[in-house]
Amino acid sequence: MSNLTVPLEDELGDVLEKAMRQAGLPEEALAALTGVPTAKIHDAIDYRPDLSSADLQRLAAALGLNEIGLCALGCGQYPLPEAAALPFCVYPLRMRHGIGFANAYLVADCGSSHGILFDTGPGIDALAAEWPAAIKTVDAVFLTHAEREHTGGLCEVVARFGLPAAFCPAGARVPCGQTMGEGERKNFDRFEVTALSTPGQVSAHNCYLVSAPSARAGGSLLVSGDLIFAGSVGGGYFSHRELATHLRRVLQAVPPRTVIAPGHGPLTTVENELRYNPFLA
Ligand SMILES: [Fe+2]
Repeated sequence: MSNLTVPLEDELGDVLEKAMRQAGLPEEALAALTGVPTAKIHDAIDYRPDLSSADLQRLAAALGLNEIGLCALGCGQYPLPEAAALPFCVYPLRMRHGIGFANAYLVADCGSSHGILFDTGPGIDALAAEWPAAIKTVDAVFLTHAEREHTGGLCEVVARFGLPAAFCPAGARVPCGQTMGEGERKNFDRFEVTALSTPGQVSAHNCYLVSAPSARAGGSLLVSGDLIFAGSVGGGYFSHRELATHLRRVLQAVPPRTVIAPGHGPLTTVENELRYNPFLA
């Protein structure tokens, strides 16, 4: 499946619902603030949107959202970037989970038979079904966070490839995990993986910045777990405030052309999300 045809993780209704929770504004309060009828807000959250551009502009202003991105979502035209050049191959492993999909990623030198794995998806069978035939083994496994749809079969994968443990965020309850904290780096062949501690969706959450320092050109990959998706952000179940703080910190710390590989939905770039993501007004 082309990246451009991968569905977004969140529709307009999901984004409004997350933003209202974040702002502590129930439907009636938002309606009173914006003049948009409660019924229209309710229908939008219920995936039956009938909001005009003027409605969306008022909602974006009241919720502190990026108006252009919100309107693009509202008309089903959220922009995704062209594939950016990376000095290695990325294999997105998209696995069905409930009504959506969860992503794991393999990163490898193009043509190589070994790589590094980020998250394991909802289960070992789903992972095996998506596994590229070219990759015979992995040198390391990294976990963004310990929610079920990202850790299925984790310890089986660790054992299968004879690894000592999976690298995990501090505080993650994972039986076969080894903590990797903020700024810690690991090197495998020509890959460098840096952990960025990003609590928000859950209290123990890492993003990983993957680069190939010896490559003469090409950017980096940010494996973002449930911090950010194309057109949306994670649910902030641990802390909306911390999620927002770490999101801005991470996006400002990496080059704009960095490719984002999120835990759900299509690939995107830092540049694209800074321009359009509703939560990055
Ligand atoms: Fe998730």
